[in-house]
Amino acid sequence: MDKQDKTVLITGGTSGMGLATARAFIQDGAEVIITGRHQDTINKTVNELGTGAHGIVSDAGNMLDLNMLQEQIKEITSYVDILFVNAGYGKFAPVEAVTEEHFDELFNVLVKGTFFTVQQVLPLIKEGGAIILNTSVVTEAGFSNMSVYSAAKSAVQSFIKTMAAECAAKNIRVNGVSPGYIDTNIWEKTGLSAEQIEGQIEAITPTIPFNRFGDPDEVAEAVCFLASDEASYIHGTEIVIDGGYSEINGS
Ligand SMILES: NC(=O)c1ccc[n+]([C@@H]2O[C@H](COP(=O)([O-])OP(=O)(O)OC[C@H]3O[C@@H](n4cnc5c(N)ncnc54)[C@H](OP(=O)(O)O)[C@@H]3O)[C@@H](O)[C@H]2O)c1
Repeated sequence: MDKQDKTVLITGGTSGMGLATARAFIQDGAEVIITGRHQDTINKTVNELGTGAHGIVSDAGNMLDLNMLQEQIKEITSYVDILFVNAGYGKFAPVEAVTEEHFDELFNVLVKGTFFTVQQVLPLIKEGGAIILNTSVVTEAGFSNMSVYSAAKSAVQSFIKTMAAECAAKNIRVNGVSPGYIDTNIWEKTGLSAEQIEGQIEAITPTIPFNRFGDPDEVAEAVCFLASDEASYIHGTEIVIDGGYSEINGS
């Protein structure tokens, strides 16, 4: 299956890795549907992406929206080849400061959002299709202030395996990308101040073997590979895209 024959759904396609992946597929002539929470951002991004781009306003943290997703997709296309479940963000706080609201918010967007997105889209995915979930290397070790985010991403990691087991009979591959520190808008939504963000970035950068954050395009390339026929025997696993951070630092 060539990229230009594909219909791709990317949740959270208005910035960061979702947008980079949308660009990569659009450049190769695919039809790409992106989701995001706001009509104005969706319109702006669809215009920027150009021919082949479509948008749906849908909040991955809201069950009412999730339950409408399949019908909204059907207004654009009758099938999907590739689903990249990417929508999300992190909120970081020490255990003592985590509220029930913080906990529910992250689990709603990252865990329920991922699960019910797949449930909605699966009936539309053609045989030979691919599902890619976005996890994170934070699942591999204990990072302070990330207890809830990391637990939510660990649940997503678990879905890769269980969904792969179920989807094999349908000849649909399920895999994940596990990004390390990638230069996106994610920091802006963490609840940290600009000063704290700057401090974190300064502290983290020297711990990355290449001494730099990853580029969203570097994750997009891995998503495109996992979606391609070249990855036809890769199923139920993850590609880590972290510049060696987790293996080399052992964290
Ligand atoms: N950056 C990193 O270092 C890193 C590392 C590992 C994993 N990740 C994961 O990668 C994914 C993408 O994040 P990013 O780093 O590319 O950040 P980003 O630039 O902030 O992009 C996040 C995207 O998700 C969308 N989004 C957020 N909440 C949503 C919701 N409730 N419903 C629908 N769309 C939603 C945003 O769209 P709107 O704001 O327009 O709604 C945006 O398009 C996330 O799941 C994140 O946890 C990030």
